[in-house]
Amino acid sequence: MIIKREDILKKAPSTRYQGSKRSILPWLYETFRKLEFNTVLDGFGGTATVSYLFKLMGKKVTFNDQLFSNYMAGIALIENQRIVLDDDVGFILNKNGFDYPSFIANTFKGIYYLPRENRWLDMVSFNIRMLSEKYNGDVLRKKQALAYHTLFQACLSKRPFNLFHRKNLYLRTANVERSFGNKKTWNTNFQRLFLRFNKEFSQKIFSTKLKHKAICEDIMRVRKKTFDLVYLDPPYARKNKKHPKDYHSLYHFFEGMLDYDNWARKINWDTKNRCLVREKTGWDEDSIEENFDKLFRKYQNSIIVVSYGSPGEPSINTIRKLLKKYKSKVYFKRKPYCYKLNNRNGGLYEVLLIGK
Ligand SMILES: C[S@@+](CC[C@H](N)C(=O)[O-])C[C@H]1O[C@@H](n2cnc3c(N)ncnc32)[C@H](O)[C@@H]1O
Repeated sequence: MIIKREDILKKAPSTRYQGSKRSILPWLYETFRKLEFNTVLDGFGGTATVSYLFKLMGKKVTFNDQLFSNYMAGIALIENQRIVLDDDVGFILNKNGFDYPSFIANTFKGIYYLPRENRWLDMVSFNIRMLSEKYNGDVLRKKQALAYHTLFQACLSKRPFNLFHRKNLYLRTANVERSFGNKKTWNTNFQRLFLRFNKEFSQKIFSTKLKHKAICEDIMRVRKKTFDLVYLDPPYARKNKKHPKDYHSLYHFFEGMLDYDNWARKINWDTKNRCLVREKTGWDEDSIEENFDKLFRKYQNSIIVVSYGSPGEPSINTIRKLLKKYKSKVYFKRKPYCYKLNNRNGGLYEVLLIGK
């Protein structure tokens, strides 16, 4: 497929996911288009933005992310090539005579959303589960993934900072001057936001006649397969910070919703924001250098491209040296990183390391 650089941002689905590479897709494309590959693994896929670029470029894509909520994006936008919600929207957004549960309304009072919004989330998430009354098999899997991904983007729009890291509903409701946030979107009702994202995503689903796949694994456990190119965009720690960004704690609300019936058992009730108890994965130990080394060794027969931030921990230089152990040609590109809110760079760079 021939895609023009100037069309990429028009085509890529919107997302409010932290760390999304959406805004720099044209810059990434400049590198990818010069590399020869047909099959690709997007190992830390997030909300599938870079996978979507690969799909637009006509590549055969395997999307992976360890968060189940991101897996929904991978199924909905990458693996899925034709299924949209159509008439299901009416079913999802309306009361259908079920006896609706109220876990969100009872548990998250005053934490993330207003009481009526919590009740709406209880109803809509139940309706999405009840799509199983209308569909089964692969169609059900894709319809539910698309419905959840749509719902999650609506949810993020109404959150200060688009995150669930704190109990901070008051930031939305307080009557004060703000230098951040988007009060108009916060006050747009959920139904309208859902319809808006549904309209957008329905137009973004397309077929390339290749079979794409979404998986949900800890990257260190992904079964070895051959890919022409492996793209790695891991969480990274800023210099002087001990741990990389913990995506699970930023998006735990979605992980809970996707396991609604067991949500109560998974919550750490000592936390003010009702965060889920965290299970450790391969990427948050103190062994990131070792993990890079393991991944580079595992995929040494593929072209390896790493997205990273500078300055970061481990440093770009360390990662470059590790890559050099397995690849004969290693080079990098960088670009000033701009803060969304004020366009400042602050000495930070987006870096792309390429090993061939
Ligand atoms: C920087 S974000 C990727 C953003 C993505 N490229 C995009 O444009 O949306 C890093 C991602 O790594 C995922 N992640 C963290 N640890 C992981 C692991 N051990 N295995 C797989 N994915 C992991 C997080 O859930 C997060 O979505």
